[in-house]
Amino acid sequence: MRTATRALAGTTLVLVALLARAVSTEQPAAPTAKPDEGIPITDQTVQKACGSCHRADEKGQLSRISFQRHTPEGWQSTIQRMAGLNGLQIDPATARQVVKYLSNHLGLAPEEAKPASWEVERRGTDFKYTASTDTEAVCIKCHSMGRVISQRRTKAEWDLLIAMHRGWYPLVDNQAFRRNGPPPRDPSPDGRPPDTRHPVEKAVDHLARTFPLKTPEWTAWSATMRPARLEGTWALSGWDLGKGAIYGSVGIAAVSGSTDEFTTTITYRVARTGETISRTGRSIVYTGYQWRGRSVAGGSQDTALREVMFVDRDWRQIEGRWFSGGYDEIGLDIRLDRVGAEPRLLGTDRTALRAGSTAQELKIYGANLPASLRPADVDLGPGLTVSRIASVAPDLATVVVDVAGNAAVGVRDLFVAGASKPKALAVFDRIDSIKVKPDWAMARVGGGTFPKMLAQFEAWAFHNGVDGRPDTADDINLGLVDAAWSMEEYAATYGDDDIKFVGTLNEATGRFTPNVDGPNPQRRGERNNIGDVWVVAKYTVDGTGGKPAPTIRARAHLLVTVPLYMRFDPTVGGQ
Ligand code: HEC
Ligand code: HEC
Repeated sequence: MRTATRALAGTTLVLVALLARAVSTEQPAAPTAKPDEGIPITDQTVQKACGSCHRADEKGQLSRISFQRHTPEGWQSTIQRMAGLNGLQIDPATARQVVKYLSNHLGLAPEEAKPASWEVERRGTDFKYTASTDTEAVCIKCHSMGRVISQRRTKAEWDLLIAMHRGWYPLVDNQAFRRNGPPPRDPSPDGRPPDTRHPVEKAVDHLARTFPLKTPEWTAWSATMRPARLEGTWALSGWDLGKGAIYGSVGIAAVSGSTDEFTTTITYRVARTGETISRTGRSIVYTGYQWRGRSVAGGSQDTALREVMFVDRDWRQIEGRWFSGGYDEIGLDIRLDRVGAEPRLLGTDRTALRAGSTAQELKIYGANLPASLRPADVDLGPGLTVSRIASVAPDLATVVVDVAGNAAVGVRDLFVAGASKPKALAVFDRIDSIKVKPDWAMARVGGGTFPKMLAQFEAWAFHNGVDGRPDTADDINLGLVDAAWSMEEYAATYGDDDIKFVGTLNEATGRFTPNVDGPNPQRRGERNNIGDVWVVAKYTVDGTGGKPAPTIRARAHLLVTVPLYMRFDPTVGGQ
């Protein structure tokens, strides 16, 4: 992520110039004629909305449109482009219908969409397009590779995409698409004549071969695709960055008169603290599996989260991300599992217990936990004894545990009344180190015209494992700990004073909020409030056996930079 995001920050101004150019020079032209291998469009709403400019041929294929396939986000951004650049007039309700039809009939199969799920889930992933590093080099200069690999097109449409880039941005040939310098003259390593194609020609050949319009995956999915029947109760397990594991449930109900729109009732607890959150939402499931929704807590729009999830083929699991923030940077990883009549375990409030500790309360989150739960029904593995069930509700049991002084250090699976949770918690005798996750992060100043991009850190505790050495395969992850957070100077520049200006780090939660953007008169040279700092976590290990309590620390690098002045991120809401 480091290099990719830095590269993106650098191209920001280029993109501003590009868009200005696109708006001023793009003249509506007659949509180009097409060869015959497209996908007919039979829906009257789409025909009416798009057909005045995109003429249908005798097979019902609309020029340009019938020759590409996209995610819902891809189709939405196409429509935004038509409205912004080509004079399309469309009301939001019709636009939603068009996005739905095109996503369902000119969409992606699950196998095609999955490799680029991080793009629609808005994750800052360290993605490497290994299938063709040449193509990646040409195409990630201005936007992510996710934009590219979440599309399917005919060869002619890949060519037209490049032509469109040239129309928007005539300098693109010199800056990215064409080779600088003379063509290679030496033969390739395999003895064939030198490859004299320009980088963009190689890229288009690769894309046309790898991402064609017609694929076996899409043909197969189109044959079996149908609205997913998701009504019912689902167990929620997830991760709220900074707070840790969350467990709860989601009730999904169909919107009456619709087969692919749903309302949701969401309740979950933060496992470590017990904080309870209730939300309500609404969603559309595109292409039989692409969940796009939005939920709020207590009716307040400030709490809105966008939901992007994938419904499993068997309708038993839904997985993805819920997010918000000026840059979609605040998010939860979510997994929903359909709940039947059987007990199900989700996780525990504590993920590590110290050997030799007694009468430890442990909360076990689940679904359908039996009211008749007895200590003998709860099996935490060797060295751990459940002495008592303190309380039990269908979704939460509190049990009291003794850990033997000689219990082996290591991770335990948990079994409760026939349900299991592998690697639920660890037994440890000491904490050897903590680590800050992520070990590198970026934030962006903002607050005026541009939003701030926040950063969230977590502190994790580790045991060195039986080899007694840190950072080896047998290290035992003990889970999140409550660290005290502070910032220290990252000596990138002599006489650095960045920590005074970049923003504030919440000393209890590890959340960094950057300062406002723009020149700061208080700062030498009226510089913007950007810079590099260390984010430091300190954790005091509770002293045992009369020894003094040691404080251990870890740190991560935080780069606070300028806003991303121009973004090309399509969004699809659930409402
Ligand atoms: C007012 C005229 C107009 C309408 C209405 C219109 N388009 Fe376009 N569209 C254009 C023009 C002009 C181009 C660019 C010229 C070309 O096709 O080569 C274009 C190009 C496209 C392209 C290929 C290039 C790109 O930017 O993605 C797609 C896909 C597309 N249109 C989809 C749609 C869809 C979907 C609709 C209906 C919601 C629609 N258009 C409605 C005028 C229009
Ligand atoms: C000079 C910067 C630049 C380079 C280099 C570049 N792009 Fe783009 N591309 C853009 C911009 C800007 C947009 C956004 C237009 C929008 O979203 O309306 C875009 C949009 C796209 C889209 C979405 C548009 C659509 O029709 O759906 C695709 C796909 C795409 N680029 C593919 C590529 C490929 C493939 C390459 C490499 C051969 C590439 N880009 C290289 C600037 C660039």
